[in-house]
Amino acid sequence: MATQITIDRALVEKYILDLARHGAHGETGVWRTVYSPEWVAAQAEIEGWMRSAGMTVHRDAVGSLWGRIEGTEGGKSIVTGSHVDSQRPGGRYDGVMGIIAGMIAVKTLVEQFGTPKRTLEVVSLCEEESSRFPTAGFWGSRAITGGIKPGDVDTTIEWEGGSISDAMREVGLDPAQTDEAIRDDIEAFIELHIEQGPLLEQQGLPVAVVSAINGIRTYIVEVSGVSNHAGAFPMDMRSDPMAGAAEMISGAISTAHRWGRPAVTTVGRISAEPNYPAIVPDRVVFSLDNRHPDPVKRKLLYETHEAMMKEIAARRGLEVSWTIRSEHAPCQCDPEIVRMLQEAAREQGVPFTTMTSGAVHDSQQMAKIAKVAMLFVQSKDGRSHTPAEFTSVEHASLGTQVLAAGLHKLAY
Ligand code: HGY
Ligand code: MN
Ligand code: MN
Repeated sequence: MATQITIDRALVEKYILDLARHGAHGETGVWRTVYSPEWVAAQAEIEGWMRSAGMTVHRDAVGSLWGRIEGTEGGKSIVTGSHVDSQRPGGRYDGVMGIIAGMIAVKTLVEQFGTPKRTLEVVSLCEEESSRFPTAGFWGSRAITGGIKPGDVDTTIEWEGGSISDAMREVGLDPAQTDEAIRDDIEAFIELHIEQGPLLEQQGLPVAVVSAINGIRTYIVEVSGVSNHAGAFPMDMRSDPMAGAAEMISGAISTAHRWGRPAVTTVGRISAEPNYPAIVPDRVVFSLDNRHPDPVKRKLLYETHEAMMKEIAARRGLEVSWTIRSEHAPCQCDPEIVRMLQEAAREQGVPFTTMTSGAVHDSQQMAKIAKVAMLFVQSKDGRSHTPAEFTSVEHASLGTQVLAAGLHKLAY
């Protein structure tokens, strides 16, 4: 029978509350975008945890923070962690739950079992959400896996207009050195994350082992028409981009709904120009976030939406165009690591299920250079990307216990 691993629940709660102070937004939210002052403060807090746990600490070229426990036998690292940035606003668990769990799991293993054979690392990834820079997506894990292309630092522009290279320099990073973050010595990456959906709560379970992660394509769609007087210009003579956009948005969302789970399509952002009540708009711009775990079906979903938007534009005498803002293939988690985590949960007596991830994660970037798998912990009411996000200390601790048991199997 495997040794039962005991997680310090008070420490889990302390770390959650300590990190939530950096970029606190209202009672329970956070607003902590990459390279912001609150981001700097959160990374400094985590560095203190790492040092007090006896880890050697370094920051990589894009500002991700690494805590390391050298193994006695050397070899490639076993890594755990997640992202420290948040949505605008977001909750206090998305991303940092995985950093906290990783920190406490490694600290507990060293306290309970001594120095590992394999090197263990905890990483606080600098950016995942694209919340400050819409095309930065997975900036930290893309840097590690060689996914940042020359010039990206100058073409990655924030919603407010500044470049990521300027933001990097403001926190002492050199945007010319992003390649220095590339790693080729990571054997496995295990990321604990909140589920961000309602399925674990519906099943009354605290933890899930994740077997696959959704693919994603997000568009920014522009619909252009002819602006006119809202009163004097007859309906039957209009080329109204708001009418066209409304039909496109309703069409895309109902297509995904008609396809049924796990297809998803979301329109989260919309703007009209000139955006006044008495003017038929000139142009309407909206985001279109589409996801599916199946490589073939996801392409069919995108093609269906694109054909529908072109047909509506032609019928209504409008111009429609789009840019693809993010495109990431789905990811199958490593079957061996999945099996190992399922066994770890069973041995620790933690009830669990196995599921796919609707959200996208750094793990699907890390899969390019390492074997990956994920653990989920329950999200109350399935809420996330909102200050209402909540995960109980009990569920967070059970997830940390399974993570620690899994890392123990790989590193001791
Ligand atoms: O959108 C996502 O899935 C991630 O939380 N950024
Ligand atoms: Mn996340
Ligand atoms: Mn998120």
